Amino acid sequence: PTGRKFFLGGNWKCNGSKDSIKKLVDELNAADFDDDVDIVVCPSYVYLTQVVGSLTKRIDVAAQNCWRGEGGAFTGEISADQLVDVGVKWVVAGHAERRHILGETNTVVALKCAYAISLGLNVIIAVGETLFEREQNLTNDVIFEQLQSLTSKIADWTKVVLAYEPVWAIGTGKACSPEEAQEVHLAIREWMKKNTSEEVSSSLRIIYGASVSSSTCNDLAKQHDIDGFFVGGAAWDGKEFAAIANSV
Ligand code: G3P
Repeated sequence: PTGRKFFLGGNWKCNGSKDSIKKLVDELNAADFDDDVDIVVCPSYVYLTQVVGSLTKRIDVAAQNCWRGEGGAFTGEISADQLVDVGVKWVVAGHAERRHILGETNTVVALKCAYAISLGLNVIIAVGETLFEREQNLTNDVIFEQLQSLTSKIADWTKVVLAYEPVWAIGTGKACSPEEAQEVHLAIREWMKKNTSEEVSSSLRIIYGASVSSSTCNDLAKQHDIDGFFVGGAAWDGKEFAAIANSV
């Protein structure tokens, strides 16, 4: 036993409609989840209040993004203060799609995390390498640089869940092997130990995300440093999601 509570996040990305989200929430409300797992789902902004208001299970809700600081004249942005106002407890930062498609830098990611944490929000922070970087043997370098920005701005790590998402495995159906994932998770934990503290490193939940399904989750979950999952595609089926939540 690691002392770290298993964690499952469902990232719905830029998908869903009022109707499909109602159907999914109904499935989640009817599903059986083990007690020893924290569960968070991440709808698009416009459905946050619908989901916050309709989940009857002990499932928390995360926004997929927020502005990097206090609100104001930032057309199109949503502030962390506004998320708190509508009852959201979590926010995602640093997802590969925001880093690579929207051009978010390590600094921007770290700033938004620090601001969100200062308001009492919990954050799921994603890190990970592209296929090119992996092939160049740069996996650890890239991730350590991402972590360096985070540790320079974040003091309170009790509100953080770190998600390792190898960019090349997101949405491809090809998950990392359990051994490959464990190797990176361990490297992250060791880096955190050196650069924060033994306590932060041993209590930090490091979850794996990218092509997780009910058929791959059990072997991944057995790895010592994998403390849960962040799932995309598999989050759209209540039964599949519950099977992943209850992985052994
Ligand atoms: O944030 C989770 C996500 O990027 C993984 O997506 O569809 O590969 O499970 P998917």
